[in-house]
Amino acid sequence: MIAFKQKYILLIATLYLAINLQARGPLSSMIVIGAQFGDEGKGKITDYLSQHADTVVRAQGGNNAGHTIIINNQEYKLHLIPSGILNAQTHCYLAGGVVIDPAVLLEEINNLEKVNISVKSRLWISPYAQVILPYHQLFDRLADKRKGKKAIGTTGRGIGPCYADKINRIGIRMCDLVNPEELRKKLERNILLYHEQLKQLDNKQELSLNTIFTEYQNYGRLLQPYVKNDAELSINNDIKSGKRVLFEGAQGTLLDNTFGTFPYVTSSNTLAGGICAGAGVGPTNIGHTLAVVKAYTTRVGNGPLPTEVPEDELFINRKTNREYGTTTGRARRIGWFDAVQAKTAMFLNGVDSIAFTKLDALDFVPKIKICVAYEYLGKRYDAIPAQCPDLDCVTPIYEELKGWMTLTTNIRTYKALPLRAREYIERISQLCNTPVSTVSIGPERNQTIIVDRNLIGPFV
Ligand code: GDP
Ligand code: IMO
Ligand code: MG
Repeated sequence: MIAFKQKYILLIATLYLAINLQARGPLSSMIVIGAQFGDEGKGKITDYLSQHADTVVRAQGGNNAGHTIIINNQEYKLHLIPSGILNAQTHCYLAGGVVIDPAVLLEEINNLEKVNISVKSRLWISPYAQVILPYHQLFDRLADKRKGKKAIGTTGRGIGPCYADKINRIGIRMCDLVNPEELRKKLERNILLYHEQLKQLDNKQELSLNTIFTEYQNYGRLLQPYVKNDAELSINNDIKSGKRVLFEGAQGTLLDNTFGTFPYVTSSNTLAGGICAGAGVGPTNIGHTLAVVKAYTTRVGNGPLPTEVPEDELFINRKTNREYGTTTGRARRIGWFDAVQAKTAMFLNGVDSIAFTKLDALDFVPKIKICVAYEYLGKRYDAIPAQCPDLDCVTPIYEELKGWMTLTTNIRTYKALPLRAREYIERISQLCNTPVSTVSIGPERNQTIIVDRNLIGPFV
């Protein structure tokens, strides 16, 4: 009798679960993250997928990001506004985890409006997002300079100090920016604090409460129409109602504040989990996590780059491949593909599939190297050695593949790619133990090959 009762309860529970799962259905929400040191082509991929998206969200970072998108030879450079804005049907959000420089945001809005991309009633800002102020930028630049040889090489946009204020619970948020009384009170307190700290860094620039207040109160007035008090609830409702929601990551996995090459990292959590936290969306509401993986490695700013190639041995043309920082114009350092890092990025982000970018940059490279493991103190490591998590003391172990020596930029199907190019992609997919859903062979939208439609279904 008891055994029958137990079976009965089990059956009911299983049925309940099955019905519930079915009711939830496959989720039309996707996170797009960078698997390396940023600049993997997240902007290009997000714009491409946004053609079939309803909502596109930025959830971390600020205008340290630089996403270049090229549509029919027209170039767009976005630092804050999600790349989805270039598709007229999307609604875009800057969620609570983002740090916003209001002057940069207003300039970006104006630049888009100038080229007839309407932003009004399509861009929404969370009241929880933090505001970058002039003392953040000053502190960022002076403090990094003071580090001398150990400088991070930040973008100087005030990102680190702004996040530090947030963690320190003195940050000024968008809800304060649009409330002059709160803004003045908080500015007064913070300027006093920063005045002391900046004095120690030999700051010569005056911080006037009245000047900053007047300027930022005006920004608040101009941005007020974009601030949406229930931004995060709206994003969640969009997912629940089956809309196609994209989350555009900024920076990359190796720049993550916790798991990157610390201290040479940014100040936000760049991983898929960080995006959930910054967007106020639970991980159970994400249908797919897509990692943008560039065919080789680049890094802008200082810090370890085990596979770095010296300037006189560069295997790609930096100029034609646009390997200059979108935000600072600095030359990006270039290295061979590092599969140890990529493999790590797969588990740190829970990646479902890879968007492989810039394959075409390797079109005429006769021999291509992949770093498959590291050597550290005479021993081989297939994963990042626990004794050297920041990668400043490892030597790459390479595997060498023959190049395909053919132009791929006009190819439109996976099958039509040269065999050796497919072998390169498939070797990386195998090392990462993750399928490739997309291959990019140029900056334009039509230079995108969908390898497996089933994987990223709702967005293609
Ligand atoms: P993000 O920060 O990850 O969005 O990347 P960036 O925009 O900073 O840098 C990527 C650069 O490569 C941009 O100039 C893109 O237009 C360009 N790009 C993206 N995908 C491809 C590709 O497959 N091939 C080539 N040649 N360029 C690409
Ligand atoms: P996207 O989104 C590449 C780097 C900076 C510096 C370090 C810390 O375009 O991929 P920060 O100003 O954030 O405190 O600088 O992080 N960095 C990026 N590198 N792409 C980015 O963004 C980056 N954002 C920050 O160069 O080394
Ligand atoms: Mg970039």
